Amino acid sequence: LTRERYPVRRLPFSTVSKQDLAAFERIVPGGVVTDPEALQAPNVDWLRTLRGCSKVLLRPRTSEEVSHILRHCHERNLAVNPQGGNTGMVGGSVPVFDEIILSTARMNRVLSFHSVSGKPVPPVGAQESPLVLVEFFLASVCWQVGERASLRPQVLADGTQLFIGSEGTLGVITAVSILCPHKPRAVNVAFLGCPGFAEVLQTFSTCKGMLGEILSAFEFMDAVCMQLVGRHLHLASPVQESPFYVLIETSGSNAGHDAEKLGHFLEHALGSGLVTDGTMATDQRKVKMLWALRERITEALSRDGYVYKYDLSLPVERLYDIVNDLRARLGPHAKHVVGYGHLGDGNLHLNVTAEAFSPSLLGALEPHVYEWTAGQQGSVSAEHGVGFRKRDVLGYSKPPEVLQLMQQLKVLLDPKGILNPYKTLPSQA
Ligand code: MLT
Ligand code: ZN
Repeated sequence: LTRERYPVRRLPFSTVSKQDLAAFERIVPGGVVTDPEALQAPNVDWLRTLRGCSKVLLRPRTSEEVSHILRHCHERNLAVNPQGGNTGMVGGSVPVFDEIILSTARMNRVLSFHSVSGKPVPPVGAQESPLVLVEFFLASVCWQVGERASLRPQVLADGTQLFIGSEGTLGVITAVSILCPHKPRAVNVAFLGCPGFAEVLQTFSTCKGMLGEILSAFEFMDAVCMQLVGRHLHLASPVQESPFYVLIETSGSNAGHDAEKLGHFLEHALGSGLVTDGTMATDQRKVKMLWALRERITEALSRDGYVYKYDLSLPVERLYDIVNDLRARLGPHAKHVVGYGHLGDGNLHLNVTAEAFSPSLLGALEPHVYEWTAGQQGSVSAEHGVGFRKRDVLGYSKPPEVLQLMQQLKVLLDPKGILNPYKTLPSQA
């Protein structure tokens, strides 16, 4: 599958021997998986479009075990694919060939919690290991921190923060310290229908003005998204059919105050014609139901056919232009072209579905989508990361000096290139 769509050659790493397996068994007793059936799921990505052929999965519980595993792999020149929840969208968390899968699934302990400061505390000495940032085991969070492009890397003088956003190519994050805010007492949601994208944008700026400090999400989806969640997941729209839909969430400490504010906003939006229909939820069952319409679009798209997925950062004013442009460009070659995403973050999820993968449709999409995005000074990867799929298009958003610096850091921290090879860094240095 992989090789047909994205030509890539295996690099000359060693292959796992009996002696390696015995060494792993000594490091993580009972945590070495070689059963082909158990290895099927971790070899396939969430979207089910990429498949690796790893024959070994390791399940360490501690940073020390991770450290020993990597020391062994480094000595033996064995490639390693760190894996958390395996929910990635860009093929960053599954092996491309036979890389050893290093799963953080068992590193799921909260080590300590400070109820007053809300901060988990790292054990003494945790930061001394070059492989460890801070000590808080939570498998999916670990991967998120490594993968999420929206977490900007801040390179401190001691280099620690380099790991954020490096997608397992520079090191393995074995622990995280998180400052936990209080769970908001009141979460309310409004779901609105808008007559055009201009009204979506105006609703956004009105919303920021009227809801300001309690606004916690502003999401949008187009009419085709709503049709697809209806068709494939049987979710019904709570408002009249509209070209666009907006989901607004508020989070605060005073339910009555927040509901009143949201109610005023809704009245204003309906009265001024920005919104043609709307509904509001204060009880958590309905809040969940409204969120499902937006959050389950990905699932509906997967059921629609093969999905070409783009995750772009764009100036909000131009955010939807590329969707219209592609509908005209692709015509009947695409099954559906949809736009949805985190408008509040300037993040468009542009998705195109087709009955099956086709190189000619791919050719019509790429590099056009990337060139268009670069023309807007946008980013070709907003929040999904770079992984396997986007590594060769990074140049559309990053200057050559930045790519060169990435390569230099990689060589410095992982001289043999064993960590998550074929990912994140462009294939041509
Ligand atoms: C979302 O916002 O729904 C997720 O990023 C997944 C996706 O883009 O499909
Ligand atoms: Zn998203």
